[in-house]
Amino acid sequence: MLRKGFAIAAVVGLLAAAAPAFAKTTEEEPKEFSLSTDGPFGHFDAAQVQRGYKVYREVCSACHSMNLLSFRNLGQPDGPFYDAKYKNPNENAFVKAIAKDYNVADIDTETGDVVQRPGTPADKFPNPYANEYAARAGNGGALPPDLSVITKAREGGPAYIYSILTGYHDAPRGLSVPAGKYYNPYMPGDLSGFWTGDKDKVPVGGFIAMPPPLLADKVSFDDGTKSTLEQQSKDVVAFLDWAAEPKAGERKRTGFAVLIYLVLFAGLLYASYRRVWKDVKH
Ligand code: HEC
Repeated sequence: MLRKGFAIAAVVGLLAAAAPAFAKTTEEEPKEFSLSTDGPFGHFDAAQVQRGYKVYREVCSACHSMNLLSFRNLGQPDGPFYDAKYKNPNENAFVKAIAKDYNVADIDTETGDVVQRPGTPADKFPNPYANEYAARAGNGGALPPDLSVITKAREGGPAYIYSILTGYHDAPRGLSVPAGKYYNPYMPGDLSGFWTGDKDKVPVGGFIAMPPPLLADKVSFDDGTKSTLEQQSKDVVAFLDWAAEPKAGERKRTGFAVLIYLVLFAGLLYASYRRVWKDVKH
């Protein structure tokens, strides 16, 4: 009996000792957030996605690539710069101008050298860094992730990214923040090793190597929308969410048409069933 007691105590002791290895990460629940495209009947807000593109272009693109997105996507139906005048987005004057504003790496076919040339609508958004090492070297060792599908790649999606962008604030007293890192309560992390205060009051959240990228009036909006931190964040998230699935609008419309077809078809089937079995007793 006594031996069994010891065995149990030993196991409990071992588990307790092993516990720190399973230390939990914590973070604040993402803020309430919604986009006009939410739900099956959501609508695409081109003006908002245009503003979001501007935020990406002027701020985020200095560090983050979007290597699954082509300039021409901006001018497709349901794209922020779609213009019915240009059925082919490669001809869209606005898209051409946007692409031209970027420098794209290419190979000189005469000499084989790597050269820079102005972008065209067929190009992908270029990476701001030559390679991963350069990206890390420019960001204190951290790699800015590609943003092409970030709203689908992160748990919490658009609400999480909005919360990160708007959620930076001064670190609580007693938290030692490593050089080149910033405290963000929405970033998953385990801060217990950096906390000098009360043991059971470890702050939630984590450190992020991205300096707060946005602040009020950082980007000026051409449509007169007031440029608050929240507005810029919301708009850039709308842009990123569009970019993660540029054909979402088309997909929803097709889905809706299919549903209507199925409902009509079900009605028709029922009517013919009644007709076929009309004279049969059952
Ligand atoms: C000065 C460079 C820089 C700029 C500008 C910048 N970022 Fe970042 N970003 C980073 C780095 C570095 C990381 C990686 C952080 C880490 O791993 O701790 C990052 C991470 C992220 C993440 C991922 C967070 C996570 O869950 O891992 C998102 C989302 C993001 N950035 C969005 C943006 C958006 C949107 C903008 C523009 C408004 C922007 N960033 C501007 C450098 C930058």
